[in-house]
Amino acid sequence: MSNQIITPYEVKTDENGVDYNKLIQEFGTTPISSEIITKIQQITNQPVHPLLRRGTYFSHRSLDQLLTDIESNKPFYVYTGRGPSAESMHIGHLLQFEFTKYLQDAFNVQVVIQLTDDEKFYYKDLTLEQATKLAYENMKDIIACGFNPEKTFIFVDSNYMGYLYHNIVKINKCLTQNQIKNTMGLQDNDNLGKYSYPPIQIAPAFSTSFPHLFPQKENVRCLVPCGVDQDPFFRIARDVAHRLKYHKPAVIHSKFLPGLKGVNSKMSSSDPTTCILLTDTPAQIKNKINRKAFSGGKVDLDEHRKYGGDVTVDVAYHYLTFFLDDDQELESIKEKYTRGEMLTSELKKIAIDLITKKVLNYQERRKNLTDDIINQFIKI
Ligand code: TRP
Repeated sequence: MSNQIITPYEVKTDENGVDYNKLIQEFGTTPISSEIITKIQQITNQPVHPLLRRGTYFSHRSLDQLLTDIESNKPFYVYTGRGPSAESMHIGHLLQFEFTKYLQDAFNVQVVIQLTDDEKFYYKDLTLEQATKLAYENMKDIIACGFNPEKTFIFVDSNYMGYLYHNIVKINKCLTQNQIKNTMGLQDNDNLGKYSYPPIQIAPAFSTSFPHLFPQKENVRCLVPCGVDQDPFFRIARDVAHRLKYHKPAVIHSKFLPGLKGVNSKMSSSDPTTCILLTDTPAQIKNKINRKAFSGGKVDLDEHRKYGGDVTVDVAYHYLTFFLDDDQELESIKEKYTRGEMLTSELKKIAIDLITKKVLNYQERRKNLTDDIINQFIKI
């Protein structure tokens, strides 16, 4: 029996890491089936994103229904967000936002992105001014992931609140203190901000929160890609949607991306030894992967040649499953490594080269952002 607690604010597991099957049962979500993947492929007329194909996005709520609606030409939008924390984003964030961008391009839909300076202020040791400043810095990090300015709206809570407020008021009336306390894992002595925050993250899942994007009266469906720890918010969102006569948002959940220390560890941008940051230099990336990434290789060359490496625990290999699009190449690396033909140093070099290229491209885009470009994403 694994003894795990997963809320938006706490991830506690035993030494085997998160048991995702158990989470699906506990949360009452649905695994992403091969039928769903085939359907997405048919609708978008292109191969699905590797994170979907390879199971990082592993679970959903009513994605099947949304796809059926999309097939009959019902419009939808994509909503995701980020809590601006003190540190730079890491490659896991880059992947998550790239996935959102893939949805934007593949379905040709509007994306909205929430930056929750209020949330981080309630939960972290930050002044509100610092949190807001970080939100605007993170906004640039996110824009540099490559979003289409014509179809992306990014907002900071403390600034956009007036537009959200109508829906927040309506959501508030549907909820009790008890419900929030239990779903979010709060205590009686937690500050009131923590209790008041969930409706703020829920409101953007309803299209009427964006009158400038969806001026027509009709409600537009919403799809939320998020880390599975964020599911409690959208479970509540789906409950209240019914009462407010809105569409229930569909949700697609991702696993946590493994940190350098092991496939069951988490990337945390507050501990730079656990992850590759988007501000790292090529030398730092190389160093981190060579020295810190947990390896499934054997203790010495003879053993490795004889018994081969274990990809299931190898962090560099896991990173390849995220960053290497080519299925055949990935399969061939796996075979060679498992047979002991490929050494850990060789496997790591492939990961280093791929990730370095990706991070350098990202840094170039971040550097070239101008105020004019940023304004395209925040204009109302
Ligand atoms: N609470 C999230 C965090 O701390 C940020 C967030 C806001 C979010 N809205 C979202 C995440 C919608 C996913 C989907 O990072």
